[in-house]
Amino acid sequence: MDGNGRWAENRGKNRIIGHIKGADALRPVVENCPRLGIGYLTVYAFSSENWKRPPSEVCQLMGLFEEYILKETHRLNKMGVKLRFIGNRHMLPNSLQKVIAWAEKMTESNTVLGMQVALNYGARDEIVNAARKLVCWVADNQITEEDITCERFASALETTPWPDPDLFIRTGGEKRLSNYLLWQLSYTELIFLDIYWPDFTVQDLERAIETYYERERRFGGMTCLASSA
Ligand code: FPP
Repeated sequence: MDGNGRWAENRGKNRIIGHIKGADALRPVVENCPRLGIGYLTVYAFSSENWKRPPSEVCQLMGLFEEYILKETHRLNKMGVKLRFIGNRHMLPNSLQKVIAWAEKMTESNTVLGMQVALNYGARDEIVNAARKLVCWVADNQITEEDITCERFASALETTPWPDPDLFIRTGGEKRLSNYLLWQLSYTELIFLDIYWPDFTVQDLERAIETYYERERRFGGMTCLASSA
């Protein structure tokens, strides 16, 4: 959800206004996921590198996350959304940690849409933590070194057991992954949009899905036509 800050700056407003508008833009996207056949949605709300921002922006963002979760969880729960948070939550303010635990608990048995919020998330940290877990499992004789396959490795990631994303959308014009789901995005179709996140609409999501269906996913293999020739 990139471009909130620039959206606000271009209008002569404080960057937090951009983040508030960003939260507004997220609402219809989530609401429309079930209709569009989306079973899982992951949004990047705060990266482990975002602490480098001015303390005032970080503080306002933490307040906004707390307010968003407190305000939205009942509605999301009614919609059947299961909320899950990935990233190092222990570094977040205590009050935010409590709200996260409350939202996860309230929505834990929902099945209509899995919504994952990456908060203080960094993919390299996630991969290193997975490697640490595997080392412990081997040391505890729960598994052997030979048991470490891609599937086993993935089972130690925070996103387990949810599937890898089919489609990745980054707004804001930058064409990079910025330490986001590096393992999980290996075969994901990537779409980069030049619009800022607060301007992102359900129509943009529908267009991205159309583009996704026009692409041919081979997962390193060949097309049916080529393989039968
Ligand atoms: C990136 O834009 C966006 C963020 C760091 C915050 C995203 C948060 C929301 C949309 C609020 C929604 C809340 C929840 C809990 C899901 P940027 O600030 O990097 O924009 P810039 O690149 O223009 O500076």
